[in-house]
Amino acid sequence: MESVIEVNNVSKSFGKLNVINQCSIQVEKGSITGLIGPNGAGKSTLFNIIAGVFPPDSGRIVFDGEDVTGLPSNQLFSRGLLRTFQIAHEFSHMTALENLMMVPSGQLGENLLNTWFKPSLVRSQEQEVRQKALDVIDFLKLEHVKNELAGNLSGGQKKLLELGRTMMVDAHVVLLDEIAAGVNRTLLKDLNDNILRLNRELGYTFLVIEHDMDMIAKLCNPVIVLAQGSVMVEGTIEEIQSNPEVIDAYFGTDVS
Ligand SMILES: Nc1ncnc2c1ncn2[C@@H]1O[C@H](COP(=O)(O)OP(=O)(O)O)[C@@H](O)[C@H]1O
Ligand SMILES: [Mg+2]
Repeated sequence: MESVIEVNNVSKSFGKLNVINQCSIQVEKGSITGLIGPNGAGKSTLFNIIAGVFPPDSGRIVFDGEDVTGLPSNQLFSRGLLRTFQIAHEFSHMTALENLMMVPSGQLGENLLNTWFKPSLVRSQEQEVRQKALDVIDFLKLEHVKNELAGNLSGGQKKLLELGRTMMVDAHVVLLDEIAAGVNRTLLKDLNDNILRLNRELGYTFLVIEHDMDMIAKLCNPVIVLAQGSVMVEGTIEEIQSNPEVIDAYFGTDVS
């Protein structure tokens, strides 16, 4: 097994609150790994540490075999590790297609000098980006809304668009933090199907935080249970769901 993400003995406190405690996990390359646990277990905090939003107090993060502890998220992003964009970052006044075209960084068209002196270069790059965005639209079956303003899309369509944005930069490791929340059943199936296709057809690795157990069961193997900032148990969803300790700590309490 080859790990693409290794979290080694990571701890993180906010003031006196120890949120992550000597936590170690491995995410196997090509897997869709689930991360579940009660509210406040530290799941989102762990994502933030992995994605470089803030560094851990102690411990190491290894990505693709390299120690990336403390690297900022934009550097991890350019290495192909990203978490889905927050809805707040979406440009609601732009169309779905334009939102996708915005993603690649360093577009030549943004540089005024280039548009004056190298118009053909800019045009061909723009066409390339546009074609890629159209391919993503096609892959996600969002053809019918490609010219809709992003602000008018349904919650689920926005989630698909977020997934599409990860495809624009050829991410190979994507962290999904509760993307099913507020998504209707039909679009949830589309989301699941697309996650599976990205995994199988394009080799994406996913680390998925999700409250929706059906979604975890459909997508994830293995599943890691986090409780009070440490790994309680890891296994298949069947193993997790029949583990008495987990039932007590997790399924025994409010899971919504
Ligand atoms: N930036 C922060 N500052 C202070 N406390 C935080 C911060 N982020 C999270 N916490 C606290 O850390 C704990 C774990 O939060 P979180 O990682 O969001 O849990 P989960 O995603 O598992 O529900 C919670 O008690 C939360 O209030
Ligand atoms: Mg959370």
